[in-house]
Amino acid sequence: MNILLIRASNRELSISNQLADMILQTYQKTYHAETNVQILNAYDLPHIDTDYAESLRSRHNDDAMSASLVLSDTLIEQLRSADVLIIATPMHNFTIPSCLKAWVDHVVRIGKTFTATSEGKIGTLADRPVYIAISAGGLLDGNQPDFLQNYLKQYLKPSASAR
Ligand SMILES: Cc1cc2nc3c(=O)[nH]c(=O)nc-3n(C[C@H](O)[C@H](O)[C@H](O)COP(=O)(O)O)c2cc1C
Repeated sequence: MNILLIRASNRELSISNQLADMILQTYQKTYHAETNVQILNAYDLPHIDTDYAESLRSRHNDDAMSASLVLSDTLIEQLRSADVLIIATPMHNFTIPSCLKAWVDHVVRIGKTFTATSEGKIGTLADRPVYIAISAGGLLDGNQPDFLQNYLKQYLKPSASAR
């Protein structure tokens, strides 16, 4: 079983990382040596560049070979091969940290991971279990705006056939 763990906080005592590690350990205890864990530190990712944006706009992204597209291909393959996805993320200014948004920009790619239809973006990756370990300074009880949970759910929700 391939588990992809994405970390969006590089704080030594990160609460979201601790929570995600607990989820990971539960999987490891259950499946023992059969788990293969890949850790992606999202805070090391560069943002997308102009070539990337242009190639998506022209939809000829398969032919372009900018460094950003190569990284995008790598991140998409890493995601595609994950049987389980765990995301550890703090709330930053009512939403996800910019480093996690950079990861979303690299993997949500037309013709690769979604198709554009009259009903909007339709994801093309297979459904898999996704866990999101969130840490916030305040409560997520409706008393502060929360653009984090709905944002991630929008991209990570099951496909229509699995709902
Ligand atoms: C730039 C920045 C913005 C933040 N914005 C929010 C916020 O909008 N709402 C909130 O509840 N906490 C906010 N926090 C607090 C963090 O979510 C909180 O400290 C969290 O525990 C950090 O996650 P970590 O422990 O995994 O590093 C913010 C922290 C930083 C550094």
